[in-house]
Amino acid sequence: MTQQQTGGDVRLTGISKTYGSFAAVQPLDLTVPQGSFFALLGASGCGKTTTLRMIAGLEEATTGTIALGGRDITDLPPYKRPVNTVFQSYALFPHLDITENIAFGLRRRGIKSVKKQVDDMLDLVQLGDFAKRKPHQLSGGQQQRVAVARALINHPQVLLLDEPLGALDLKLRRQMQLELKRIQTEVGITFIHVTHDQEEAMTMADTVAVMNAGRVEQLGDPADLYENPRTTFVANFLGTSNLIEGEVVSTGTDIVVAAGGGKLRLPTDRCQAPAVNGGRVLLGIRPEKISLAHRDEADAIAEGRNRVTGRIVDSSFIGVSTQYVVESPAGTSLQVYEQNVERRAGLTHGAEVVLHWNPAHTFGLDAAQDIDAGVETVEDAA
Ligand SMILES: Nc1ncnc2c1ncn2[C@@H]1O[C@H](COP(=O)(O)OP(=O)(O)OP(=O)(O)O)[C@@H](O)[C@H]1O
Ligand SMILES: [Mg+2]
Repeated sequence: MTQQQTGGDVRLTGISKTYGSFAAVQPLDLTVPQGSFFALLGASGCGKTTTLRMIAGLEEATTGTIALGGRDITDLPPYKRPVNTVFQSYALFPHLDITENIAFGLRRRGIKSVKKQVDDMLDLVQLGDFAKRKPHQLSGGQQQRVAVARALINHPQVLLLDEPLGALDLKLRRQMQLELKRIQTEVGITFIHVTHDQEEAMTMADTVAVMNAGRVEQLGDPADLYENPRTTFVANFLGTSNLIEGEVVSTGTDIVVAAGGGKLRLPTDRCQAPAVNGGRVLLGIRPEKISLAHRDEADAIAEGRNRVTGRIVDSSFIGVSTQYVVESPAGTSLQVYEQNVERRAGLTHGAEVVLHWNPAHTFGLDAAQDIDAGVETVEDAA
């Protein structure tokens, strides 16, 4: 299939949805560039599906407008929008074979010669050998690919995907993430993918919008979101962050913060909050950026690194790395991930340690926020 040249950006302006007095989606401005793989990421109930359904026209927006390539489609019924949706339950027609499932949209529009287009689609999703099978004779991942082919054959300008991989087990999910990414790159149309799985969003999308309670909290490419979260919610929801609260003692190119009985530095241009002497900030550091040393090796740590003392209270060996939890005066439980290059003797429960890292890897956040916002609870992780 050739790249689609038609279409344009999806632009949401002031889009919101309220049910009675409950605001499911707060007024939202969002531009999804044509041809991008865009992910809406957020915890259950934050308004992802509602946003997607407004784009599809399945839900009427309470306020705002939706435009596609500059054309206002706010009042168009769903079937007139150049948009198709793939849902979590892909609901193929059980009595039709794969060919007829994929051909469905063309047949409905009265198109008789469907073979060429269906064959192209079967190639695209690599199911050529399965054309005559019924859906129940396919695996979950294969059925999901049929659902994608069935949507793409209509040549939508935008494909909306609502947790399409939710029903698949982890390994198949990972495979399908790569597969969907390949398909998107090949057809070049805009994909808007809804997921609550941060790894999935980061693996697949060019741009991720992190949603929280009906709002887009931050938007950017995955690496930038991960390295430069602007809020505690994003810092905690996207991977894991150690957040250490402290008091600003000096400012300049670096901000120096007193925390846990020591001084820590962070680059001023990585601090999202105004830093004034005597004010408070949260220092953020990702677990994989921290190194561990025994307390008695502390003299060997290079000058200029941030250091925090503590005691190991937990460690889990997970193959590629060992994950430590360290109690420290600077923060109750600091997480440290050490790559498993060689086994380190003595880094066991109760060991007195020094955590150290390059100050350049530290980010700063406004201390007025909830330090635990976006931390995944056991319940959420289900
Ligand atoms: N028809 C409705 N009437 C009232 N409230 C609704 C309705 N549909 C959704 N909501 C509420 O709006 C909020 C957002 O729902 P939405 O389905 O968009 O969440 P989501 O981010 O897709 O969550 P999930 O990850 O669980 O699918 C939820 O609190 C939900 O209960
Ligand atoms: Mg949903």
